[in-house]
Amino acid sequence: MKLLVTGRTGQVATSLVERAQCFPMVELLTAGRPDLDLAILGSAKALIDAVRPDFVINTAAYTAVDAAEDSPDEAYRINADAAGEIAAACASTGARLIHLSTDYVFDGTSDRPYREDDPVAPLSVYGKSKLAGEVAVRLALPGATIVRTAWIYSPFGHNFVRTMVRLAGERDEVSVVDDQHGNPTSALDLADAILALAARWSSGDAGGEGEIYHLAGPDAISWAELSAKVMERLRALGQPVATVRPIPSADWPTKAPRPRNSTLDTAKYLRDGGSAMHSFDASLEQVIRRLVAA
Ligand SMILES: NC(=O)c1ccc[n+]([C@@H]2O[C@H](COP(=O)([O-])OP(=O)(O)OC[C@H]3O[C@@H](n4cnc5c(N)ncnc54)[C@H](OP(=O)(O)O)[C@@H]3O)[C@@H](O)[C@H]2O)c1
Repeated sequence: MKLLVTGRTGQVATSLVERAQCFPMVELLTAGRPDLDLAILGSAKALIDAVRPDFVINTAAYTAVDAAEDSPDEAYRINADAAGEIAAACASTGARLIHLSTDYVFDGTSDRPYREDDPVAPLSVYGKSKLAGEVAVRLALPGATIVRTAWIYSPFGHNFVRTMVRLAGERDEVSVVDDQHGNPTSALDLADAILALAARWSSGDAGGEGEIYHLAGPDAISWAELSAKVMERLRALGQPVATVRPIPSADWPTKAPRPRNSTLDTAKYLRDGGSAMHSFDASLEQVIRRLVAA
């Protein structure tokens, strides 16, 4: 099965490339700038028409949450318009699509983890543009599968865990927000789950068609708790650590508002035959070992 992944340099795309080695039936192709620039109208269609993939996994996105507040046009162009174009190109070539979305489509006021059919109410331009992307994808290709994930970390690219590992070697103390909760998700685990879904489809299983799935790590914690977990693992590995000082969001103002509780309920994916992700501790350990070794 020929699988085309957009967003070549990103955390999820890089993880998909690594994990695809465990799926011998997968021929994985990646696309990214400059050959695929989603800011250019028609760029995605030209590529999909030429490659004729069986599956497209759209991981490309404008992911700079704070910068998006000042660049809404660009964020909407990449996260909404281009996502719709990718879906339309899949519809016209018969490719199936897995489109990645975010926990930031929710406003974070729920007192329980969000389910797929809970009302959406994004707070930020990023969240709004990703929600517009979900709508555009659904309109162009009703059978597309939308995967909402959260708080991605990996040995690659920019992410919170990597930043904490760096700061642990540079500072005695780090101040970290303690009143925002979410599901830290290993991009490597997410890649395994996405590839497993595509493999099921290629064997004729239509499961997941037209569905939204919440696919995220099993534990819901705060940024400060995640930071403390990183320090705990670093200490166990004999690495320098910093003291974590929990602070309220009010003491760490950001351009874009963040949901207080964007934890995701992943039960639907499991009910529909998906496998449980690895434990948070095991996945974090794996990523930190690789970051330290690098
Ligand atoms: N990171 C998170 O914590 C998180 C949480 C929830 C949901 N998600 C969603 O999960 C997906 C994957 O996230 P990620 O962490 O892998 O993202 P990432 O590491 O930030 O990578 C984003 C990718 O999108 C590409 N991209 C940006 N603008 C583009 C354009 N104009 N044309 C073509 N490609 C462009 C980037 O390419 P360049 O290298 O050329 O910039 C990069 O390869 C995204 O849909 C994101 O919204 C992420």
